[in-house]
Amino acid sequence: MSAISQSFTLPSGEVVKNRIAKSALSEGIAEKNGRPSEALFNLYDQWGKGGAGILFSGNTMVDKDHLVNANVMIAEDEEFLDDYTTLADKAQAEGSHLWMQINHPGRQAPIYLDKAPVSPSNVGMPSKLYVQPRPLTEDEIYDLIDRYGTAALIAKKSGMKGAQIHGAHGYLVSQFLSPLTNIRKDKWGGSLENRARFVLEIYRDMRKKCGADFPLGIKINSADFQRGAFTEEESMEVIQMLDSEGMDLIEVSGGTYERAAMVGTQHKESTLKREAYFIEFIRKVREKIKSPLMLTGGFRTVDTMNKAIENNELDFVGLGRPFCVFPDVANDLMSGKMTDCTVPDLLTGVDKIDMTGMLQTPWHQFQLVRMGKGLKPDPNMDVWYVYEKVTGRKRPV
Ligand SMILES: Cc1cc2nc3c(=O)[nH]c(=O)nc-3n(C[C@H](O)[C@H](O)[C@H](O)COP(=O)(O)O)c2cc1C
Repeated sequence: MSAISQSFTLPSGEVVKNRIAKSALSEGIAEKNGRPSEALFNLYDQWGKGGAGILFSGNTMVDKDHLVNANVMIAEDEEFLDDYTTLADKAQAEGSHLWMQINHPGRQAPIYLDKAPVSPSNVGMPSKLYVQPRPLTEDEIYDLIDRYGTAALIAKKSGMKGAQIHGAHGYLVSQFLSPLTNIRKDKWGGSLENRARFVLEIYRDMRKKCGADFPLGIKINSADFQRGAFTEEESMEVIQMLDSEGMDLIEVSGGTYERAAMVGTQHKESTLKREAYFIEFIRKVREKIKSPLMLTGGFRTVDTMNKAIENNELDFVGLGRPFCVFPDVANDLMSGKMTDCTVPDLLTGVDKIDMTGMLQTPWHQFQLVRMGKGLKPDPNMDVWYVYEKVTGRKRPV
């Protein structure tokens, strides 16, 4: 049996059927008010049949007034509990585990959705597409911690098998961790211990609400890849803090909206070729902590995936974009039907577009829209079609 096909027992005792996880992919097909929709049920029905050990939901919002994109799922209270239960039933029908990924965009909330964003400090995004945020008050910080815990409890009550804090990619938790976006002078800013307080308190609140046996995890940046922001050394320290609190699964990624390292646009050719973008970092982490580890970003060949598990560098291989193009990718990699799940590189030939990776998310989300309608993904979807849809501009001639 190949390494990726082997089951894994989480610290909570839950057994995951294999080592392939669908990393969180913001679907953008919930109902307008954040309720899980028929389209999401269709999508997770397909993914549930695709064989992954764990399916992380797309980031689910803790506050309806602060959204990362339109038609994103919201878990503020129990209003949509029945719908989340349906989603869990669809995703888990064949034995995959569904975990809810829980998020707040902070300053990375687009202007068309959020005219009054909040963040640890008033450090704005370097783009007109975002309003400058105002700093959160301490009462608001405590309210948010409670909201993350409430969302985790909704995940548990719906029958999902776990919850994950989105602590990566420059969103609110990541904004607290980074000295570039967190310049607070109170106990929530300054030293690393203070900057990490928000995420630790979120974890503790989730644990208190969900109990000792409910699997809880985090997705965290190995680094932000920006001068003056969250570094590898700091990430290592925060991971050690989370490990000693008893996290069930730590997923490593990297980058922010300003430096899209998570989808590979900031890496050297050699890193892209070698696949797993952040593997050197995770090797160092492995030596220092006990919590199970998952790595996401760039994995494409079954050999590389198997080797990473065989060499005991990590416990779960996370895949993002391949699940948008090949919904059965987990089964196909395990059965040998597929040995390489490389997705189209989506290059337009225009550096300004390609360097930012700006078409990566919408192109892949368009595939999820198709699956939500019961259609198959279309690997030949024209990148310029997506460009025109997203920007409202004609392709440059
Ligand atoms: C359409 C799309 C939506 C994404 N949404 C999320 C999300 O909601 N939460 C998250 O942590 N990462 C999100 N990501 C990042 C992926 O989880 C993953 O980290 C990234 O695609 C790198 O993995 P890959 O090389 O296997 O695609 C998204 C990526 C794409 C392409």
